[in-house]
Amino acid sequence: MTSMTVNGQAIRYQLDPATPLLWALRDASNLTGTKHGCGTGRCGACTVIVDGRTVTSCTVAIGTLEGAEVTTIEGLSANRGHPVQQAWAAEQVSQCGFCEPGFIMAIAALLRASPRPTPEQVAALPNLCACGAQPRIARAIARAAA
Ligand code: FES
Repeated sequence: MTSMTVNGQAIRYQLDPATPLLWALRDASNLTGTKHGCGTGRCGACTVIVDGRTVTSCTVAIGTLEGAEVTTIEGLSANRGHPVQQAWAAEQVSQCGFCEPGFIMAIAALLRASPRPTPEQVAALPNLCACGAQPRIARAIARAAA
């Protein structure tokens, strides 16, 4: 059993401690905004915030998260009101939308740590978009940081 807080709610997962956080969120908590892309920590689709830092939830076993505070895309804001979500909509970033939750979580964490991120910091985001929306994503980051 592993206890943690997910989007402000206390959760006790009665799952194998080796279960990746991604599957606990999606299968046990029905928080399906967090996506499964590569499953190996390389695409960023499963990015969530744990204790203030981004993690790829496919690579983190829940057994290592006792007492952790987890935020998923569902818990980032009410009514998609986070500045990154607003900028995302204003710049019409969404195409297929699969990378969107992970990108938004990563950008939200980046802007919290660095309100005016450098191009290098933006380029260092580990998230991938297969649709080619990177120019719109860059504009959304600039808009959210403004
Ligand atoms: Fe976790 Fe790709 S699914 S990084």
